[in-house]
Amino acid sequence: MVDERLQSLVERYEVRDLLSGHVLLVDDDEPNLEVLAAVLEPDYAVHQADSGPAALEVVASTPLDVIVADQRMPGMTGVELLEAVSRDHPDVAGIVLTGYTDSDAIIAAINRAGAFRFLTKPWNPDEIRMAVADAAAYVYQRRAIERLVALVARRNDELAKALEDLRLAQDRMLHLERLGTMGRLTAGVTHDLRNFLIGLALIEEEFATRTEVTDDLRETVAVGLAGIRNLLATLETMNQFARGGPMTMDLQSLSPARLIHDALVVMRGDLEFRKREVVQRVADGLPDIEGDRPRLIQVLVNLLRNAVQATAPGQRIAVEASRDAEGHVVFAVEDEGPGIPPGIRDHLFDPFVSTKGEGGMGMGLYMAKLIVEGHGGVIRCLNAINAGTRFEFSIRASCQRN
Ligand SMILES: Nc1ncnc2c1ncn2[C@@H]1O[C@H](COP(=O)(O)OP(=O)(O)O)[C@@H](O)[C@H]1O
Ligand SMILES: [Mg+2]
Repeated sequence: MVDERLQSLVERYEVRDLLSGHVLLVDDDEPNLEVLAAVLEPDYAVHQADSGPAALEVVASTPLDVIVADQRMPGMTGVELLEAVSRDHPDVAGIVLTGYTDSDAIIAAINRAGAFRFLTKPWNPDEIRMAVADAAAYVYQRRAIERLVALVARRNDELAKALEDLRLAQDRMLHLERLGTMGRLTAGVTHDLRNFLIGLALIEEEFATRTEVTDDLRETVAVGLAGIRNLLATLETMNQFARGGPMTMDLQSLSPARLIHDALVVMRGDLEFRKREVVQRVADGLPDIEGDRPRLIQVLVNLLRNAVQATAPGQRIAVEASRDAEGHVVFAVEDEGPGIPPGIRDHLFDPFVSTKGEGGMGMGLYMAKLIVEGHGGVIRCLNAINAGTRFEFSIRASCQRN
């Protein structure tokens, strides 16, 4: 009776307990009930009820497969009973026993009650056995399909989730792969840069003893040196997290004003930066902070570079230091540019997020965040008051001055 393909699916997916084997017989005529029960008892767990309401009580407490109900009962007809059952238990099949004269009324009610079969009286035992067996097979099939559909839906969700997890893992792998490559590249560049630095540092020392050297030249060399030192710090940071280790900080007590000054010296090596109007606002009486000097300069320089890239000559860039309610020092870099592109707002501090095409690595804000958080601080991006962008990060004040 049951479709072979369905049966094999049921077995393959180990869908169990589809049938309870319980059948309910409903008739207000006691002898009729006894005869019916005698026919079905060898094959089923048989329950009996002598009215519609009594039958509903059995339905509520027993997991049934099939109900066989007489149509003509006082109070509630067989069709009415099945209609009531189908509301909460649509997977229980109903068989209605009826006289020929009821046929029209019954046919009209078929749709409402969803009865599986109508048997006319007098019925014979084979007919009843067959009807109940067919009804049970129908119930089996219906429940099997429902359970398999639910299973597929669940597996689908599981599959979708597993695929999403895999995709994320793959993304991470790609990131790590790129970071690893970058780490290897930076090692070579770092080596060359150190040699430059040594050469320039010697020149600077030499200049210190010579009176004929102009201040301009001295300044140029100082700016160049600051730039190279900053680059080295950047490369070191890249190297460190390419190797995957925790970022080591070399903490000392630093003056916020001095830090901003040093970052601006590095920036002076950038011709575009010199075309911006730079405003410095350092609050009075700021405490020193506990920080890694080259790394914090690197953060300020990254933010300032982004501000330069977001603005046109003549536009203003502000760099600030103030104190927040908790006593931390808050550094801010604000520009008058177009603001952060909406599409990347939520991923701003992720690695490789850049809208600058070839010109951008998307590492600046990522590294800034790593460094600030390595100091136990917080970095965030705000909308500047006049369009534009404002980045803020907070750093703890050092103990002795706090
Ligand atoms: N001040 C700013 N104004 C507008 N957009 C900015 C600003 N700073 C950062 N962004 C956006 O954030 C992206 C990521 O910045 P960053 O991590 O420094 O990488 P990169 O500068 O290499 O693109 C930039 O490509 C840019 O779209
Ligand atoms: Mg940048």
